[in-house]
Amino acid sequence: MANRKISPGGAINGVVELPGDKSISHRYAIISALAEGRSEISNYASAADCRSTLDCLRRLGIEIETKDHAVHITGKGLHGLQEPRKPLDAENSGSTMRMLSGVLAGQSFRSIITGDDSLRRRPMRRVIEPLRQMGAEIRGSERDCAPLEIRGGNLRAIDYTPPTPSAQVKSAILFAGLYADGVTTVHESVCTRDHTELALREFGATIEGSRGTVRIHPRPKLTARQLVVPGDLSGGVFLMAAALILPDSSLMLHNVGLNPTRGRVLDFLISIGAKIHIPNLTSRDGELVGDVSVTHAPLEGGEISGAQVAEMIDELPMLAALGPFTEKGIEIHDAQELRVKESDRIATLAAGLTAMGATVEEFPDGLFVAGREGLAGREQRESRTSGKSTAAPSAANKPEGPANRPGGAVQKLRGATVDPHGDHRIAMALATAALGAEGKTTIRDAECVSVSFPEFFDTMDRLRGQP
Ligand code: S3P
Repeated sequence: MANRKISPGGAINGVVELPGDKSISHRYAIISALAEGRSEISNYASAADCRSTLDCLRRLGIEIETKDHAVHITGKGLHGLQEPRKPLDAENSGSTMRMLSGVLAGQSFRSIITGDDSLRRRPMRRVIEPLRQMGAEIRGSERDCAPLEIRGGNLRAIDYTPPTPSAQVKSAILFAGLYADGVTTVHESVCTRDHTELALREFGATIEGSRGTVRIHPRPKLTARQLVVPGDLSGGVFLMAAALILPDSSLMLHNVGLNPTRGRVLDFLISIGAKIHIPNLTSRDGELVGDVSVTHAPLEGGEISGAQVAEMIDELPMLAALGPFTEKGIEIHDAQELRVKESDRIATLAAGLTAMGATVEEFPDGLFVAGREGLAGREQRESRTSGKSTAAPSAANKPEGPANRPGGAVQKLRGATVDPHGDHRIAMALATAALGAEGKTTIRDAECVSVSFPEFFDTMDRLRGQP
């Protein structure tokens, strides 16, 4: 597998048309397969994960053609899928496995869905449990991981609150709800991305929702559509972060998906000092789409916790890796979920950033990545809020040695060899931070970025004026 060397420096300048949003592409493909007629999906994500969804749909008997940058899917209606002869392979894609499980739960045939080593370690009880309650037979491994063997049909409508907020789980239940005997309801403590709801409505399903509750009516007639997938904001965030890290940068992203359930990352970046503008905003196929401009600006740093975690779940690796480029650092809590993503993202990030010379404190539910003021500022802020003495440590007590020691000012990041453990978002977060380091960084097995953003390195090179 190929390593990638990153040379630091330069500036980010230019305009980018981002590849199609990964989350929306999965949904448009799945719903097109369940609709009647031929749908045309333009700007379908180039992400390997979304190819996995198409491959699984083909194995379920769906005809799919890629022509002129669009994916054409001939849907066979809610009951037109065929029993697959071989197991479906979701490869690295949790969205494919969890969302398709909901569709498979509605089929009377038996199917098996599996994935790569990383996906076979990820928790699936969260979809097994509600789909069993609906009446599907599902068997996973001893630890309720993939491969999942599913036989469904004759589903009951349920009223369900996922214990962990998850758009994938919500979507699996909504897809199964298409096949249920009544109205299925999902409640959420945090509003996760609502692309499934918006897309199902576009195709003709009846879905009602008010904050925190979604209801789907069964057995709609879904009709083929022509749709355009907005650019992937979660991929765009790496480019935006590069513009924030490198002085003299100015970046424009065109046609970016700005669904409010995804856009919190922009609010957060603005709140810590980023200069971000959205000159055009419009609605297309039920989704908000706009242009986003970012110019280099000093960042203050800040904290992320509670509902923000689910709202920015895919952006947390990049936000954490921005820590050393802020004054106060970035602190993340309530994010245990990061430990069961494509890698244990808290541990992988902490190891990578520490190897690059950052000061990192790891917690069970998150991490603190110190900014330019090091740990000292945070300790002083904490002691102020807890009423302890705020006196600076005496010279005798001051830690000695290199500036990166806890309590000292943080050095610039330095180039290092880092291992993203096959996790696309960690590879891109570390590669972006490496642009602001001293010396070259090597990202091990860097082609894992193709899981969500195959054009990442080329786009970054082009924006930095590198051949
Ligand atoms: C996704 C939901 C999130 C996110 C993932 C894509 C989706 O996962 O991390 O990359 O498309 O619904 P969870 O639902 O597990 O939070």
